[in-house]
Amino acid sequence: MKYQEPMLCPGSLQEKTIIVTGGGSGLGKSMTKYFLELGAKVIITSRNIEKLQTTADELSKITGGDIFPVACDVRDYEQVQNVIKLSLEKFGKINGLVNNAAGNFISPTERLSAHAFDTIIDIVLKGSKNMTLALGKYWIKEKINPATVLNIVTTYAWTGSAYVVPSATAKAGVLAMTRSLAVEWAKYGIRSNAIAPGPFPTKGAWDRLLPGNLKEKFDPAKKIPLKRVGVHQELANLAAYLMSDFSAYINGEVITIDGGEWLYGAGEFNQLEKIPQEMWDMLEQMIKNRKK
Ligand code: HXC
Ligand code: NAP
Repeated sequence: MKYQEPMLCPGSLQEKTIIVTGGGSGLGKSMTKYFLELGAKVIITSRNIEKLQTTADELSKITGGDIFPVACDVRDYEQVQNVIKLSLEKFGKINGLVNNAAGNFISPTERLSAHAFDTIIDIVLKGSKNMTLALGKYWIKEKINPATVLNIVTTYAWTGSAYVVPSATAKAGVLAMTRSLAVEWAKYGIRSNAIAPGPFPTKGAWDRLLPGNLKEKFDPAKKIPLKRVGVHQELANLAAYLMSDFSAYINGEVITIDGGEWLYGAGEFNQLEKIPQEMWDMLEQMIKNRKK
């Protein structure tokens, strides 16, 4: 078995009907593909219905699964309610949500207009809130149990990060919501968890976070202890596990999948890995000599 391979047994998501926001591209598409392979019914949403339809056609052909594309801007609560209405008409029940849709770009914060800052907060934080609130109300009223929310955040939700301040602010809010609702809604059989990915190549992220030659200048793999970026199937494996009943006792958790990246940035002496072996011999002697 290799880490690039599917992990769960066939039929692991047979009873699940899952909404994946931003499911037409990138990581949302990869998670959707694997959910379908495992037997889930999946509703994919984003603003661009042509893109969603193309993805739905492609994935239903590859997996033979039930996939339903619905246009929805997650910033608009009425559109979110409409997704739920159409999904219930189509599948009769929804019991999973992946808040994956996001907006992001790099910029010095002082260059941002108030509207630019709002745009990111509205997609990431308000969008996740809109989906979670609307589905939570439905789950509680209709006693849909178990139900699961999975929020895709990132490691700077807790470290913060320069040059993506609206995204960091919003993801921190989503993480707080994850942990808060994990406790409050557990009594209804609703679990809330999050995944914090490190760099996983997608067009959406790379075009906005590493435009032009930044890809070469700031090769993300170089600051990852495992010296590679993530493979989509690895993230899909983790997401499928967290959406499945195999993870029934995991609630309020954020699981980092970043090859050790954020800890590498945080540890006081981690940079010492640049010191060659011969120099360690010399340093060891210097330290020991001081003791004498
Ligand atoms: C400064 C910018 C800007 C930029 C847009 N704006 N891009 N300001 N620098 N590079 C400003 C605009 O001028 C405008 O403000 C405001 O932001 C809204 O822009 P619009 O283009 O009107 O918004 P909209 O059409 O809603 O598009 C949203 C978007 C866009 C976020 C700007 O990039 C988008 O659609 N993104 C969706 C996909 C995405 O971002 N994927 C990457 C996720 S990666 P004014 O004041 O002029 O009106 C990710 C990874 C995290 O999250 C972790 C990695 C390790
Ligand atoms: P992506 O392909 O750009 O995904 C973002 C998706 O969100 C798109 O499908 C986009 O579709 C949708 N979206 C944006 N604004 C929306 C809105 N207002 N309403 C509804 N949908 C909207 O990028 P990605 O890399 O796969 O990112 C997916 C998730 O992973 C995000 O939460 C991101 O923060 C997280 N993440 C990614 C990485 C990485 O390295 N790739 C690392 C850490 C975290 P439309 O444009 O059609 O609306």
